[in-house]
Amino acid sequence: MEPTFSLPSGLTKAERYAAFLEDYKNFINGEDDRLAALANTSAALREAFGFFWVGFYLVKDEEWLSLGPFQGSVACSRIRKGRGVCGTSWQQGRTIVVPDVDAFPGHIACSSASRSEIVVPMRDADGNIIGVLDIDSDRLNDFDEDDRIGLEAIVEALRNNGITS
Ligand code: SME
Repeated sequence: MEPTFSLPSGLTKAERYAAFLEDYKNFINGEDDRLAALANTSAALREAFGFFWVGFYLVKDEEWLSLGPFQGSVACSRIRKGRGVCGTSWQQGRTIVVPDVDAFPGHIACSSASRSEIVVPMRDADGNIIGVLDIDSDRLNDFDEDDRIGLEAIVEALRNNGITS
């Protein structure tokens, strides 16, 4: 049977992440190709949570992130360190939750429909940031602590699988 990531209804957000993570860990176990794993991670997250835009920006050099695998509309292909939500998350080495993108100084609007956003840094085995997971919503205030905890666990699963090294 083909893997499916659609989740049953009636779960809280935290329960949805827990259910997703269980299937997801099995799914990526043994996948050692970074591009393939990140592409399928984008698709699985989109299928399970219906995110407006979900994908990865990968560290290209000391100054730039470059667009990686994603699901959603065409997006900016380069983001400079310290710029936008992604470049700020990379520079500060922490997850950033933005309830209202218009209120975030320097937010980079790849889509005018984007209203809120969460960006989670992705690390290799040595702790170096190798990219970020970026998720956009077309609704204000769509991300909270449950998303931060859930998405950080997904990124950690990628690291444990050796995909970020
Ligand atoms: N809004 C992001 C840019 C990437 S798009 O959302 C896909 C930012 O400010 O870094």
